[in-house]
Amino acid sequence: MTLPESKDFSHLYSDETNARKPSPLKTCIHLFQDPNIIFLGGGLPLSDYFPWDNVSIDSPAPPFTKGIGHPISELSNDEVCKVDLKKDVKVHEGDIPLARSLQYGFSQGQPELLEFIREHNKLIHDMQYEDWDVVATAGNTNAWESTLRVFCNRGDVILAEAHSFSSCLAAAQAQGITTFPVPIDDKGIIPAKLEAILDNWTPGAPKPKLLYTIPTGQNPTGTSLADERKPEIFRIAQKHDFLIIEDAPYYFLQMDKYERDLQKRAVTRAQPRESHKDFLASLDKTFLSVDTDGRVIRLDSFSKVLAPGSRLGWITGSKKILKPFVSLHEMTIQAPAGFIQSVVSSTLHRWGQSGYLDWLQGLRHEYTLKRDCAIDALHKYIPENKAFVINPPIAGMFFTVNIDASTHPEFKTKYDSDPKKVEHALYEKVISRGVLVVPGDWFITEGDTVPPQPAASKERENPNEIFFRGTYAAVSPEKLTEGLKRLGETLHEEFNV
Ligand SMILES: Cc1ncc(COP(=O)(O)O)c(C=O)c1O
Repeated sequence: MTLPESKDFSHLYSDETNARKPSPLKTCIHLFQDPNIIFLGGGLPLSDYFPWDNVSIDSPAPPFTKGIGHPISELSNDEVCKVDLKKDVKVHEGDIPLARSLQYGFSQGQPELLEFIREHNKLIHDMQYEDWDVVATAGNTNAWESTLRVFCNRGDVILAEAHSFSSCLAAAQAQGITTFPVPIDDKGIIPAKLEAILDNWTPGAPKPKLLYTIPTGQNPTGTSLADERKPEIFRIAQKHDFLIIEDAPYYFLQMDKYERDLQKRAVTRAQPRESHKDFLASLDKTFLSVDTDGRVIRLDSFSKVLAPGSRLGWITGSKKILKPFVSLHEMTIQAPAGFIQSVVSSTLHRWGQSGYLDWLQGLRHEYTLKRDCAIDALHKYIPENKAFVINPPIAGMFFTVNIDASTHPEFKTKYDSDPKKVEHALYEKVISRGVLVVPGDWFITEGDTVPPQPAASKERENPNEIFFRGTYAAVSPEKLTEGLKRLGETLHEEFNV
């Protein structure tokens, strides 16, 4: 079946994007690789003067039967994937010789890396239009900053989940962009509320250009947007003509469902590893898979699945929409660092698509164990009381403990009926017991338009609800359990339960 072409969204571009002329030097850089051309056109140093001749890298080899965290030194030779990167030659398909990756050029990303990513994308998304592509980035922080610059001017408005990743909100606000909150529940954005906000948008206020969302393993709430809500939200985006930015660093940290009953859990966890087909079928539907227009821009990152310091990720979108991203990158990052593109491309091509899926399944297994440990400890130590709600996450790195602040015995007398004051006091008390969890207040999406939006669009469902965000990713099970015990003791003491 031939798929349709994506639509044009250039009417949503920022003044900066409209003003940017292509860098004339970049129009001829591809000729640098042409053996028939003596290239005297640019300030490219001769690769002979790059001091690095080769790089050796060992990683575990698929299918990672001993688990993905097993020390390399304890693996046998055939359980280790060895890469010997050379300066001028490809030893293996997918290698990017250092002389090329360390040189200027290829702002979209090195072809071998992009080829792997495109093939991987085809396994994950059910693309609905023909002309899609990918651009390499220095991770989602960079991709988001680029997105803001490609589309937004000072004074523009974007929508974001009512609690969202504070660094991304701060990046927008620092550019003079208003972040307007959209109500969420334990299944993510509530489509009816989103639609009501937009249907009742104040005349004269700039309409939102973007919806920034973290659909899977949301940061900070740990929730995942229900699949059935995605086409609804996409329809609202069509109706009100905004783009959806799907920030997906946690997409592959999707876990098995939490099972509190230990006997039942033991049965599920003892199952052999699922097939790739079942694994792929179990993953959340992506916004890209419902996008018939090319109005979804998806940000993927290797940070949470390989290593944050790799500073490598990619954007997927229509070729039209990716053009201004490449032009911006030509003038900002130029391209992600050459070393990392070579290292990741060589490793992934040796693992193969199937080996990479093995890796991602290994991660799922590890995170499921850690999540189980955290939620078990929360059930053990957090007061069993309606005022405290534990939401076992099915993706990502975060859990939350939600608390009805009005049940604090001194809510009125000491804290002036202000839930934020309770949250702050608890934060300090928990730290004094030697554990750090982060108050939900740090992630509130705040902002209003000029002229303002109607009061009904800004109502909060449970104004007295506060929460703390913790992660099970960063510490050992023993420390995790001890930390949550201390959190529980503080809550028992403070709430007299
Ligand atoms: C929602 C979200 N987006 C982006 C990032 C940053 O990702 P990267 O390391 O790819 O820049 C994070 C990291 O914590 C995150 O939680």
